[in-house]
Amino acid sequence: MKLYIETVGCQMNELDSELVVASLRKDGYELTNNPHDADTILFNTCSVRQHAEDKIYSALGRLKNAKREHPNKVIGVLGCMAQNHQGIIFKRAPYVDLIVGPGQLHQVPALVRDIRAEGVTRTQRMEVSLGRNDGSRDQIERSHESFDPLRDPAMRPTPYQAYVRIMIGCDKFCTYCIVPSVRGPEQSRSPSAILAESRQLAAEGCREITLLGQTVNSYRFQEGDRQWRLSDLLVALHDIEGINRIKFVTNYPKDMTNDLLAAVRDLPKVSKYLHIPLQSGSNTVLERMKRGYTVEDYREMLLRTREWIPNVAVSSDFIVGFCGETDAEFQLTMDLVRESRFKNSFIFKYSERPGTKGATLYADDVPDEVKRRRNNELLALQNQISEEDNHAFLGREVEVLVEGPSKTAEKASAADSEAPATASGPIQLTGRTHCDRIVVFDGNPRQIGQTLPVTIYDANAHTLFGEVVTRHSGVELFTLSVTKRSEPASQKEALSILK
Ligand code: SAH
Ligand code: SF4
Ligand code: F3S
Repeated sequence: MKLYIETVGCQMNELDSELVVASLRKDGYELTNNPHDADTILFNTCSVRQHAEDKIYSALGRLKNAKREHPNKVIGVLGCMAQNHQGIIFKRAPYVDLIVGPGQLHQVPALVRDIRAEGVTRTQRMEVSLGRNDGSRDQIERSHESFDPLRDPAMRPTPYQAYVRIMIGCDKFCTYCIVPSVRGPEQSRSPSAILAESRQLAAEGCREITLLGQTVNSYRFQEGDRQWRLSDLLVALHDIEGINRIKFVTNYPKDMTNDLLAAVRDLPKVSKYLHIPLQSGSNTVLERMKRGYTVEDYREMLLRTREWIPNVAVSSDFIVGFCGETDAEFQLTMDLVRESRFKNSFIFKYSERPGTKGATLYADDVPDEVKRRRNNELLALQNQISEEDNHAFLGREVEVLVEGPSKTAEKASAADSEAPATASGPIQLTGRTHCDRIVVFDGNPRQIGQTLPVTIYDANAHTLFGEVVTRHSGVELFTLSVTKRSEPASQKEALSILK
């Protein structure tokens, strides 16, 4: 049986899809890239912005005829939009068989099995978690608990990298954000489960783990009289043999405590890279967003972070055109971006989310044209800063964890099936530095998964270009360069890598 799955949204969703695929493989499914070949088609969805939802409804619309011609196909909508829209999805696309929220994904194999067994006379199924006001805290927490991971190395972007969930949900309730409603209450996973899963990943050959949580640095777990913080977890994970790199996303500015900064500074395997979304440079906007900090708090945190961890790379997220944002408020964001020198920033136009406090309290009154202009202006400034900072790497040697063929090499191998990316000749590879900068260089496919010294000879806002350093009895030799400069990655490409 064949399974087609499409995933949008954040790393949480990528991980969820990996786990759903692993559980369906146990039922005899194999993956296909072609929805028309598939017996079961699943969409793992996101509700963070309207655009993410629109994408799924148009994909569903395109399946209408296929479903009429092949009524046995199972079509399922999973994830955050399933939790958010629930039965509305059946109304808009009556041929959908299955709706499953992110807290109920463990039920997917049994639901698909039942639907198939019923044949064309099947009934539609929906399994979602409780809403934030639909029970006691404990009941709501239980209904959002994720299922035990069944890892599937074949679904990961590379076998050498994996996400490990350490928290689910969010209790911060920023006024613009749908995540606390669709992902439920903030809950930390036990250190023993996290350590066991990471050891298993290391044994499977994984070299880099990225710890996931909506506010990952708010991690707290009480075990007897010991309270575990993220810094304690990093110390414990650091001892796992085989794991060479540890990252974590996303940080909440208010919870960037000194114990965590010390752990990042002192543990060599932990990336000197922190994603700490600021969202706006205006105190009045931050207040309307209910972010819980001021510009002054953030500035203090950033200074302290850079004092504790020299050469740390910090990245951020911004929302432009939030309700009532004036030109003057937006200019404060520009000023703070100019001052803060983020490695990169993800910039989003505000998208009103029905059901959030923002949608109830404020009007979405900044015209789309103004949102677009502010988005472009902020992006241009950030790109200029990223490029300047990347140029500082010219001539320097960096350590690169090799992730796989570069986009250019992948495209070339897709166009020329005679030269697959797994051949043993030189190809363009991509990887990341310890501070999360993307590096492209020529190498050999067998170097994928290794950590290599690379000297940087060129840079743009998104990418460093380099040559692998080869050392022979004290003499340094550089490999011959056959690299063609790739196109600068667009913001969209960068997003698909990180988000
Ligand atoms: N938990 C993370 C972010 C989750 S959503 C954190 O707290 O930082 C990822 C990003 O999407 C957010 O940082 C924010 O910049 C953006 N975002 C969230 N809701 C949005 C909305 N309604 N419109 C536009 N962007 C939004
Ligand atoms: Fe959303 Fe705020 Fe929670 Fe992040 S911290 S997931 S932006 S509510
Ligand atoms: Fe989207 Fe859900 Fe992630 S709403 S951003 S997929 S937590």
